[in-house]
Amino acid sequence: MSEMEDLDVTACKRCDELVACRSRIVNGTGPADADLLFVGEAPGEREDEQGEPFVGRSGDVLDDGLREAGLDRADVRIANCVRCRPPGNRDPTDAELANCREYLEQEVDRVDPAVVVTLGKVPAEHLLDRDVAVTSEAGDVREATVGGEPRRVLVCVHPAATLYDPSQRETFAATLDRAAEFTDESSGQSRLGEF
Ligand code: URA
Repeated sequence: MSEMEDLDVTACKRCDELVACRSRIVNGTGPADADLLFVGEAPGEREDEQGEPFVGRSGDVLDDGLREAGLDRADVRIANCVRCRPPGNRDPTDAELANCREYLEQEVDRVDPAVVVTLGKVPAEHLLDRDVAVTSEAGDVREATVGGEPRRVLVCVHPAATLYDPSQRETFAATLDRAAEFTDESSGQSRLGEF
């Protein structure tokens, strides 16, 4: 068993509609001691098929962005607010987000990342617990309480947004550059100076 497998959710039945529609539960992937924990919204079709977050088109964009920022997918942890695919890729409901919150909190607690990077509006609003205008706040580091602990949250646009709106590409790339500053390879000084 890998060091995170005990956190894998294997038989959750909290959300009737998601249980009925899912092919599988999509748990987080990546090292337990990652400096960066990326949190998306919920699995899409590909993720539901393959059982891994961000393996579809959004995942390709994320992988490319990580590479351009000098990061490697293998070194970051990637998870979602909700671990089962909502039918038709609709947004997760508040009840679904609440049902899955405990798993997300356990994930954040265990990984204890230098920063949680939210991919898109749903995870930003879920963790910051307020309305977020992602395009104007992208690249900003905020503080949120997750599982009773203060956590740094770096707001990022969803990778898919760069496909629909190419003007978001620069914002996405700049935010990933900012994320890279929180990794161990970068100066610990600049990381601690954030707050
Ligand atoms: N979009 C998300 O928010 N999460 C995924 O895992 C894939 C696409």
